[in-house]
Parts: sequence; C-alpha cells; structure tokens
Amino acid sequence: MKAGLIGHPVAHSKSPLIHEYWMKQYGVTGEYNLIDAPPEALEETIKRLIDEGYDGFNVTVPHKEAILPFCDWLDEGAKAIGAVNSVSIKDGRLLGHNTDVYGFIQNLKSSGAVKTLQGKTALILGAGGAARAVIYGLMKEGAKKIYLCNRTRKKAENLQNEFGTIIEVIDWKNREDQNANINLLVNTTSLGMTGKPKLKFSMKDLSHNAVVNDIVYTPLETPLLQNAVTQGNQAVTGIGMLIYQAAPAFELWTGIQPEVNDDLQNLVLS
Ligand code: ATR
Repeated sequence: MKAGLIGHPVAHSKSPLIHEYWMKQYGVTGEYNLIDAPPEALEETIKRLIDEGYDGFNVTVPHKEAILPFCDWLDEGAKAIGAVNSVSIKDGRLLGHNTDVYGFIQNLKSSGAVKTLQGKTALILGAGGAARAVIYGLMKEGAKKIYLCNRTRKKAENLQNEFGTIIEVIDWKNREDQNANINLLVNTTSLGMTGKPKLKFSMKDLSHNAVVNDIVYTPLETPLLQNAVTQGNQAVTGIGMLIYQAAPAFELWTGIQPEVNDDLQNLVLS
C-alpha cells in the first residue's frame, strides 16, 4: 500500500498511527506518509502522487473541497456534501470518496448508544464542514427531523436550503429550546476543544434516553459529554469518528476491511 494524507498542516495527524496499525495487523507492506501542501501546491502534489504510484490518499483541511475538481469520479456522499476526504487512484484517475459520513454513523452505532436513527430527531450545533457530513449521514439513516443551530444563523439557513425541509433552523440563543423533543445532540462546533471556549449548553428537559455526541475529541471527555454523563445520558466521544472514517479508506487501497478494536482506540488516544 502506498498512501498518505494531504493537508496543511498535517504534522499532528493521528492517521498514520491508524493505517500503520492495520498494515502491521494484516501484513500489508508499504507506507502512509504525511504530505504537507499549501493550497497553491495541491495540484502539483496530486500529480506527484500519481507519478509515484500511490494507491490513494486522505485529504484534510484545507483541501477537502478544493480537491473536487481534480476528481474524475465522486461517490454519492462526496457529491452531496461537496467534500472528499479519501481518494483512490486507479489507472491515473482520481476516485473521490467521503468516508466521514460512515465514520460518524459507525461511531454512534458501534458505541451501542444508538441502535437506529430511523425516525429520530436530532439537534446539530454548528454549520461548518463537519455539520454537512453529519446532516447527510442522519438523512441517509432515515432521521425524521434535524434542528440546526449555529452562531451565524445564515450558515444554518444555507444548509437548510441545500438539504431541505428535514432541517429546521433555530437561533443560537435558543439552542436548548428543543431539548424535550430530541433523541440525539451532536456538537460539530469547535467549542469545548482544548484551548477553545467551553460550549455552554444546559441539559434541562433532555430525555434520559437522548444520546449526546461530540465531534471534538481533544479532550476525549469534553465538558459537554461530562455534563451529559452527570445527567444520566449516554455520551459518545468523537475519537471513533476519526478511526471509523479511516476503515473504508484502508479498504479502498488494500481490499482489506480492517477491524476497529480497543487496542487501536487506546493507541490513538495515547
Ligand atoms: P468544521 O469544518 O470542522 O465544521 P468550521 O467550518 O470552522 O469547522 O466550523 C466551526 C463551527 O464552530 C462553526 O459552526 C462556527 O460557528 P460560525 O459559523 O458562527 O462561525 C462554530 N463556532 C466556532 N467558534 C464559536 C463560538 N465561539 N461560539 C459559537 N460557535 C462557534
């Protein structure tokens, strides 16, 4: 396998740990390289990887949207979200995939906290790139309604126009008003991340069965998740989304469906 991650910056990425773990586990020889490329170097970097015989690569900030015009084919999720995070190279052609959607859904399901999303109602905080994958994932899984709440309301409204009437936009200041009506709360903002302000969110009126998920995984137990656990709600950390999004990418490059186990999870967290 010859693969890597293109981003800017990429130095602190956990992706090599994950792919190298699976390479070792399945006896796959090769490499997974961190490739730092500023926006102006994206095109030449892609050409270099094709020339060097790469099987594919992951894409991260700030290239997830910029890579689209270079792709010869896009999977359904990448098309709907307008972002690619995993590319496979076949005969010099770039096939663009979005495996963040799978990562998000699989993290919820494998945690045991969510059995099905069919007919469920969710509240999503944030309207950036991560929110797009979360919205698409919930829609694909048959969610009934999504309350979308963002500090900048206009960005949430833009997503409503794009994804349709399943979305109802609510003001940031009213973010707790639907607590009694939701089965799932997902934080996709950067609030609660180490070095960022805390996310202020009251769990008042939230059903005991509601699940709280944070996309933020540094720290693993964000104040939001700690608060949820204190209230007796199930909390799902964000690290699984990172690990699960890597699995379909590894499969694209090697044909092997890798297993996600506790050992890998501990390695990524160490
Ligand atoms: P990503 O691609 O990871 O989703 P992003 O596009 O930078 O990252 O989005 C970050 C999200 O965090 C946005 O929804 C942002 O809200 P705005 O659209 O209003 O900027 C949200 N966010 C960041 N800082 C925030 C803060 N102090 N209060 C509320 N929301 C915040």
